[in-house]
Amino acid sequence: MILAPRLKKIADSINGFYSIADIGSDHAYLPIYLIKAKKIKNAIATDVNAGPVKIAQKRIADKKLESFIEVRKGNGLEAIASNEADVIVIAGMGGILISEIIENRLEVAKAAKLMVLQPMRDSDRVRRSLYNNGFMILDEELVKDDGKIYEIIWAVHSKENNRIECDDNLILGKAVIAKKHPLLKELIDKRVRELEKIMDSINGIASENCAERATDCKRLLEYYEEVRRWL
Ligand SMILES: C[S@@+](CC[C@H](N)C(=O)[O-])C[C@H]1O[C@@H](n2cnc3c(N)ncnc32)[C@H](O)[C@@H]1O
Repeated sequence: MILAPRLKKIADSINGFYSIADIGSDHAYLPIYLIKAKKIKNAIATDVNAGPVKIAQKRIADKKLESFIEVRKGNGLEAIASNEADVIVIAGMGGILISEIIENRLEVAKAAKLMVLQPMRDSDRVRRSLYNNGFMILDEELVKDDGKIYEIIWAVHSKENNRIECDDNLILGKAVIAKKHPLLKELIDKRVRELEKIMDSINGIASENCAERATDCKRLLEYYEEVRRWL
């Protein structure tokens, strides 16, 4: 079974654990791969929507893996109890949704030995939520899949008091900056192009909203330029 690079990167990072809960599993690609590769002993694949739940059940039944992977329909971490899974994976959703899922069932997230989070956008919201709720970011990675760059965050709850130093530190992962990740320049270039488009679209519009938006964009552009110089 061949996983897409994004999910393969997540799968490769799951080593030495007994179980995972894949929240918003959709086709259950990840748990099926991990069970077949004998990387974990059992899994819970959850989804809030009936369609994906059905698809996951069918794929798991086709592969005769029902005794290893349980499919549950439910909203976020409401579908699992604390300590039911060593690793919690929440991948392929927006960062705002991922942070809401974590914050709605903090006790479940805190009990996990590892959380693997892969926001499709708004990764700063995920980092903020993690820091504000006492999680430690262990590592971050970038993966290119089908021409797009994806961010992956590994985190665990920590007893240490984490503090956000400044907002800019959340826009990009500190770990990917520190390791001068080979995909970071490409990610920054893409974000800069998006910001420049926004700046063009609001250029000349006299409104308080647009002025605020332009200030935010300029601040971000300056930050990206600063990181670029470091790379
Ligand atoms: C784009 S798919 C990602 C599938 C897989 N995790 C991946 O990364 O390839 C997002 C899935 O999350 C599910 N989902 C959205 N909100 C959810 C929530 N609050 N709780 C559980 N699942 C959710 C959707 O139904 C959908 O199947």
